[in-house]
Amino acid sequence: AAQTMPVSLKINGEIHNLTFDTRVTLLDALREHLGLTGSKKGCDHGQCGACTVIVDGRRVNSCLMLAATVDGLDVTTIEGLSHGDELHAVQAAFLQHDAFQCGYCTPGQICSAVALLDEVKKGDASVVSFEAKTANGRPPLTDDEIRERMSGNICRCGAYPNIVSAVRAVAKGVTA
Ligand code: FES
Ligand code: FES
Repeated sequence: AAQTMPVSLKINGEIHNLTFDTRVTLLDALREHLGLTGSKKGCDHGQCGACTVIVDGRRVNSCLMLAATVDGLDVTTIEGLSHGDELHAVQAAFLQHDAFQCGYCTPGQICSAVALLDEVKKGDASVVSFEAKTANGRPPLTDDEIRERMSGNICRCGAYPNIVSAVRAVAKGVTA
């Protein structure tokens, strides 16, 4: 018999107290129980990144996480990035740089990029080689690093060049 447990999900700042089958993934909880369908199900096996959300500041594949394991943690989905009419800088950059075609991978790409830029802001040492550090000590983000750091997010339409342009544009703002 299926086991259920109460879970307190904090999604985009709002608490939802629900009871889940212990096997329900965070992705299914978002899409099927909370109606947050922005996070996409591509492979359901941790291979494509379409389901990427941010948990306590880190990007995760929500198809690989059980809803029960994020009890009480801060989850941000694509729906939580904009405020009213105001898009998140990364969303605006994706529009400006035409960084999508069918759009299926886009919410995951954007969540991934938001967390990536946070990693840079926090000065994650592994983001860049020491030599490349700028005068103010903040690392620039090279295109190779962007590609490497975004490699968990697959785009079947091949929008990669424009995705890199969008992330680079926001990164410039971050690291200037
Ligand atoms: Fe989660 Fe593909 S749906 S990684
Ligand atoms: Fe179609 Fe990326 S825009 S999969």
